Order: sequence, then structure tokens, then C-alpha cells
Amino acid sequence: MWLWAVIVFIAVIAIAGCSVVEEDRAESIRPIDYAAIKARLPPRESRGKVSDAFPNVSLTDQYGRTYRFFDDLVKEGPIVVNFMFTECALVCPGTTSNLARLHAAFGDAVGKDITFLSISLDPENDSQEDLHSYWKAFGSHEGWLYLRGDFEETELLRRSMGVYDLDPVVDADKTQHAGLLTFGNDATDRWAALPALSSIHDLKATIIRFALAGRLASRRRPDSTLVEIDDTQGKIYRSSGLIQSVDEKRREIILEHEAVPGLMPSMTMTFAVAQEIALDRFPVDRWVDFGLVNEATGFRVVEMVLQVEDTNSRIPPSALVAAGQSDYALYCASCHGPGGDGDGPMAGSLKPKPAKHSNGEYMNPLTDEYLFQVVHEGGASVGKSPMMAGWGGTLSDEQVLGLVAFMRSLAEPPYAVSP
Ligand code: HEC
Repeated sequence: MWLWAVIVFIAVIAIAGCSVVEEDRAESIRPIDYAAIKARLPPRESRGKVSDAFPNVSLTDQYGRTYRFFDDLVKEGPIVVNFMFTECALVCPGTTSNLARLHAAFGDAVGKDITFLSISLDPENDSQEDLHSYWKAFGSHEGWLYLRGDFEETELLRRSMGVYDLDPVVDADKTQHAGLLTFGNDATDRWAALPALSSIHDLKATIIRFALAGRLASRRRPDSTLVEIDDTQGKIYRSSGLIQSVDEKRREIILEHEAVPGLMPSMTMTFAVAQEIALDRFPVDRWVDFGLVNEATGFRVVEMVLQVEDTNSRIPPSALVAAGQSDYALYCASCHGPGGDGDGPMAGSLKPKPAKHSNGEYMNPLTDEYLFQVVHEGGASVGKSPMMAGWGGTLSDEQVLGLVAFMRSLAEPPYAVSP
């Protein structure tokens, strides 16, 4: 499951950002038998979802109300989760105030469409009153629960969410876990994580995309002309969707679509494509209008029409840059900065520094092939720092091309394709 690979990767990187006094580390290690803690909790039935791993631990909020993590919080709707403790002076105040800004950016949606959960890593010290004061100190925001539970169960919970380090010494130091924000939506089974100190814009856009399934709403759709077909097969249900991926081997298109009125809510669906239809007619990240009929054997698509702005190229360059921009915000900006100035929140702790993609003098002489290779295979593949990881396992080739196109668009002086 690549999602978790990304989370663990970010978690490991986040750790590099904090400095901790060495002597404190060894003291804070407390051996924990995770299997034993798991065994003392009531078992959860598996539904084949990411959240299957989340234990149903009991948590109490700043008002003294009690919840089961899975039954009462995860299952209820989209959540944003961070781990903190009130005496954490190093990173927590910074991340909590960033979350307060994020809360403001979501406005009325918090509490209704999404719930913020801040879970104490130090429940033996953080009383309900402490959490209540902390909540007040950071603005008494509605829809934001400060939770405490059993120490060991909390440890199990954070591990189950991917917020941990493989090095037990580092892992035992709770200041290290406070920098990561995990968010997701059990209904759509989409989860991701970002450094809590990422820009509000990046956090909000990514949370909308992953947890609120709001990607469709937030993208401006081109106009389309739907080819009407003869409605002799029974009722045709129509809607539009964004092509997420195309699997040539299995001949499948995965479509994230809007609600199909009268039939189904907005969701992600996989369509098998008949042999006679050329798959390259349906490029990733393009909008299609579709019509389907509901037959006893399942849904059958009877029309699928691309919403086209530019019929000349497979993917218009502007769309490539736009796709690259959103991937860049998601995967690269934490180090390289949102504008490619090498000033992301994690840049400070890295040596060598992340490259400045806005520096045309440096970037323009590098070839597209070279940039593709660095992003796809990682810095080590070209003799650069391994902190520049390879993204080929996470991103499709098309996404990497988008990232190259986006980096080109940042260059000052501008990049010009040589004739
Ligand atoms: C964990 C931090 C981090 C993340 C995340 C990251 N990079 Fe990097 N990147 C680096 C560092 C550090 C370097 C500098 C490597 C060096 O100079 O040895 C670098 C260098 C580069 C270079 C320049 C290579 C060169 O020859 O100078 C490119 C291009 C690049 N990154 C693209 C990306 C893209 C695209 C993404 C997102 C998919 C990304 N990076 C994500 C840390 C990161």
C-alpha cells in the first residue's frame, strides 16, 4: 500500500527536523508489548480498509466526553489527526498554531465536514483540565477535540497510523512525533499525511483532496458537449468524472466521478474497457462525461466523451504544468518550498540544501531526461544526496513529467526550449 510508504517516509524526514538533547533519549524508552495491548482491546472486524489497522481505543476529550477511536471518530467522517502534549515546548506550539490557522481556513466546515483531533502523547501528565486549558490557549475552536487515553493504547494508536520511527531510540522520544498531520476519510478509504508545518494552502488543498473527496468540486471543469445517444436501452444515467488512471494491461479506467443523479454518490469507480476501444483516447487527468445503464449484471457505460479544450496534443502543456503544480505542493514543497525557492519547512535540517528550482541559471542547463531521472530514481542515482528520494514507486511517469514541466515553469530567467 503505497500510501503508508509515503507516510513512513515523511515521518522519517520529519524527525530529521527536530533537535533533541541526546541524554534524554535513552531515559524515555519504555518497552511496550504492542501485541499484548492489541490483545486487550476488543477485536475489530476487518473491512479491507486502511482503518482496519486503527485500534478502537477509548479516548476522553477536553470536556470529559468519552469516545472509541474507530467507532465514534473515524467512522463518523473525515478527520485530521496530530499527536502532541502540552509540555512539548519544542515543536507543539508551532504546529498547534499552524493547525489553528488551518482551522480558520476551513471555517464553518470544521465540526460539520471534518473534525480536528489532537491526541496527547503524554496522557499521564496531560489531565483533562490541561487539555482544556491548551484548547483555550489556542483559541477555543469548535470541532477540535483534545484527547487523552491510556499511554500504551495511545502508543499503539500512533503506530497504527504510521506516526513512528524505525529507530526505537528516536521513536521513544515523543517530541519527534508531534510534527506530522495525518488525515483521511474512512468512507472513501483515502489517507495521507503531511508535515504539520506545511503551508496552510498545501494542507488545506491536500486535505480537501484526500479526506473530503472534494477534488472534483475544487477543480474548474472545462465546458463539454455531450453527444446524446439514442435512449433505447432503458434509463441512461449521466455524470462527469476525472480519469485517475488507465491500466493498459487490465484494460481498465479508474474514474473519480461526481454524483450520478438518481443512482450513486460521487466516488471512485473502475471501468473495464472493451477490446475494440483504444485506451489512449482516455488520458489521465482529463474530464469525461459518461452515461451508464444499470443492468442486472452491473453498470454498463454506453457513452464516454472527453471534455476537450485542446485536441492537438495528448495532454496540453498547461494541464501538465497544472498537474505538476499540485503534485509539487503535495510531494516536493515540504523541502523545496512551494515556489521552488528551496525554502520548505524541512529545508533547514537538510545538508546539502534542497535545490532551488526557481534558479534558472542552475536549472536551465539540466536536461529534461536528467530531471526525470532525479525525480524518478532519486538523487543517489545521479550522485546527489539520498535525501532527495526517488518517487518512481509513488508517482506515475506522467506525474513525473508534470513535475518536470512545473519546475521548468518556475525558472528565472525563464527556461526556453532550444529550437
Ligand atoms: C525530503 C526533502 C525533499 C523532498 C520531499 C524532495 N526533494 Fe528534491 N532534493 C532534496 C535535496 C536535499 C536535494 C539536493 C540534492 C543534492 O544537491 O545533493 C534535492 C534535489 C532535487 C533536484 C536537483 C538535482 C540536481 O541535480 O541538483 C531536483 C530536480 C529535485 N530535487 C526534484 C524534486 C521533486 C520534483 C520533488 C517532489 C516529487 C522533490 N525533489 C522532493 C530534497 C527533497
